[in-house]
Amino acid sequence: MKRITVIGTGYVGLVSGAGISDFGHQVFCADINVEKIHRLQNGEIPIYEPGLDELVKRNVSSQRLSFTVDVNQAVRDAEVIFIAVGTPQRNNGEADISAVESVARVIGENLNSYKIICTKSTVPIGTGEMIIKIIKEMIPVDRRFDYVSNPEFLREGSAVKDFLWPDRVVIGATSKKAFAILRDVYRPLYLNETPMVHTNVATAEMIKYAANAFLALKISYINEVANLCEKVGADVHQVAKAMGKDGRISPKFLHPGPGYGGSCFPKDTHAIAELARKKGAPMNTIDATINTNTYQKKRMSEKLKDLLGGHFSGKTVGVLGLAFKPNTDDVRESSSITMIQSILDEGGSVKAYDPIANKEMEELFPNLNYCHSWIEACEAVDAVAIMTDWNEFRGMDLHYLKSIMKAPIILDTRNILSMKQLSEIGFEFDNVGRKVISHDY
Ligand code: UDX
Repeated sequence: MKRITVIGTGYVGLVSGAGISDFGHQVFCADINVEKIHRLQNGEIPIYEPGLDELVKRNVSSQRLSFTVDVNQAVRDAEVIFIAVGTPQRNNGEADISAVESVARVIGENLNSYKIICTKSTVPIGTGEMIIKIIKEMIPVDRRFDYVSNPEFLREGSAVKDFLWPDRVVIGATSKKAFAILRDVYRPLYLNETPMVHTNVATAEMIKYAANAFLALKISYINEVANLCEKVGADVHQVAKAMGKDGRISPKFLHPGPGYGGSCFPKDTHAIAELARKKGAPMNTIDATINTNTYQKKRMSEKLKDLLGGHFSGKTVGVLGLAFKPNTDDVRESSSITMIQSILDEGGSVKAYDPIANKEMEELFPNLNYCHSWIEACEAVDAVAIMTDWNEFRGMDLHYLKSIMKAPIILDTRNILSMKQLSEIGFEFDNVGRKVISHDY
């Protein structure tokens, strides 16, 4: 059992802290946000993440997991320190690593014995070196530490599962000793034969960006294929399915939609593209991925406008789904933001509904008509736009839906409704990449 401190109790820090304590270690989750720590100490989980509540409770009650605002003490007490603070995007596209820098200084001030400093936050390539430099300048010359880059690959909505059953663990370590200690931290996974990839620090930092940017690229690619499918009378679902049968391509992340959102893909693609430009090795594919995604989001409002006769003015739209994907209350970079903004900008109004993200969207758009069910959001509207593929929208009674709307117009940006049924019932509709009704839909 190791004594481990995780600094930062955001989504990454909390899931990682709870997950590591579940592996049998003594974990202190530390944060300077007093209110957040008090809530956690009182058993309240500040984010919505399936399974996290139970994971935290289980480990708090077995006294392996605790929360503290005393970051200094938590650093002094630990053998391994995970940095899991936020790295938001700056206006110029670069990642803002000021929180990481200040944590590095706190670690430097409190480094009372050999420790492993391990970064989980997604940081620009080269940040590891910078952290090492900051700490080295603050400690006596004979004090030792090792540095590890151990990026997270957690998806919101399935982060607990991703942490406890990962595809691989990437450990970019400055020494063999550090790698061995990290392998011990992840011992249950190691015993389960989860691949542990041992690299240097820069390689581990690069793996994270390269993986996320590639997934984003895959989505932008299939979205462009979808747009072309519409023009040539092909069905993008069948195209993606057949493409995915090729093991070299894989069927994952080939689902067309309204453009990717969330806290990772938009930020990480910008960060790697900026870094690549700065280093003189531009990534044109990622620049294109970003542009395609911006275009895809705008394209959704154009599609809806077309369905409404070319304008939003005086029209009321029921927007179903506000989160950037299902099973999360996160609305960051969600395509529904672009949709809502276009409707409002052009004189329309919005009735909005999300099973859990209404409150988050209210911070961005305080004056929308927020509803408590899809039924309420669709009553007397001129059109409905499905923006997130929540299961409850898949199961909507379309006959009933038609009966409560002012006009039967629907934009299904996630392709979750049966086109056959929509046309039989008499809806005027559009989707992404499926202008034709294929025989199996
Ligand atoms: C992502 C990565 O998957 C994860 O490994 C990383 O650590 C953090 O970023 P997350 O942002 O939680 O996770 O969501 P993800 O499930 O990857 O979806 C991102 C966006 O892409 C969503 O808006 C989703 O709707 C969209 N998406 C995903 C598609 O449009 N099509 C797909 O086929 C898959």
